[in-house]
Amino acid sequence: MTQTLKQWLATATSSPELAWVVDTVAGACAEIAAVLRLAPLAGQTGLAGATNVQGEAQKQLDVISNDIFVRHLRANAAVSILVSEELDEALHLNDEGGFMVACDPLDGSSNLDVNVTVGTIFSILAVDPKAPDLLQPGTRQLAAGYAAYGPATSLVLSFGDKVATFAIDASGQFALVEDGVSVPSASAEYAINTARARFWDQATSAYVAENVAGETGVAGKRYNMRWIGSMVADIHRILMRGGIFLYPLDSETASKGGRLRLLYEANPMAFLIEAAGGRATTGPQRILEVQPTSIHQRVPVILGSAEEVARVQAHYQRL
Ligand code: AHG
Ligand code: MN
Ligand code: MN
Repeated sequence: MTQTLKQWLATATSSPELAWVVDTVAGACAEIAAVLRLAPLAGQTGLAGATNVQGEAQKQLDVISNDIFVRHLRANAAVSILVSEELDEALHLNDEGGFMVACDPLDGSSNLDVNVTVGTIFSILAVDPKAPDLLQPGTRQLAAGYAAYGPATSLVLSFGDKVATFAIDASGQFALVEDGVSVPSASAEYAINTARARFWDQATSAYVAENVAGETGVAGKRYNMRWIGSMVADIHRILMRGGIFLYPLDSETASKGGRLRLLYEANPMAFLIEAAGGRATTGPQRILEVQPTSIHQRVPVILGSAEEVARVQAHYQRL
């Protein structure tokens, strides 16, 4: 018998309140999935005409997805704070709530006009509602996950011990697909935006050069490159069949600290990948141990199959 998300949550965590927050986030994702499916006919795939705090042009669907998140979380008394890519400041929701949610409501939104998989990424932390600490390292996450809006809508979830995947069934509910996903330790696929090669540091250049050399180089095997441009879609592939994703610090992103955001992109993905047996690093440091200094902070991200990430880490140690 297929388990519903609610049934699975009842045994996956000992905290009914945390389960409630996850269930609320899943409800928001299900609504976003339904909106995305009809967006081209509703004329919602274009720009919103505004810029977010990070200087990025917001798409209509970035704003709509953020609004859906706000509405669902506001209705959950256990959530006191929402940090979102699309909100300049942390949003105070409920006075007594013991949880904070950090989210990227729509990841990969530059792919919306071409109907390629996009997603939602989320991280859940405990906070004191009277004095919320917004800047906690990723090791303190209680749960994290993402929804991938592809041919199927997938929800991938972890409380830190294991990773489970769900898919939306015919009635619009998430049902369990696999409990205990693990990332294969080795792989022959890597994901990096190679158009940025001239900005790369030595460690990144050396690792990619080894992969390009394939069976004629030190890696000793032939690689394929895959870059979707939606982190959720790239990470979902890696979680399912192995590989490595790199958005390293490069000479162009160095002044900002990197490209991807720590609280709602790097940390939740690092939490999932580690729970599935992979590794996640900035190059020199474990992502989950980075002490945040601001809610929209950016970091370098290198994560995936343990053996691949270890090879990149070895290059960083040589620098
Ligand atoms: P977002 O759409 O939330 O701003 O995130 C986009 C991110 C991530 O999804 C993806 O991996 C990366 O940006 C793509 O970067 P490039 O444009 O350099 O390919
Ligand atoms: Mn994103
Ligand atoms: Mn986004």
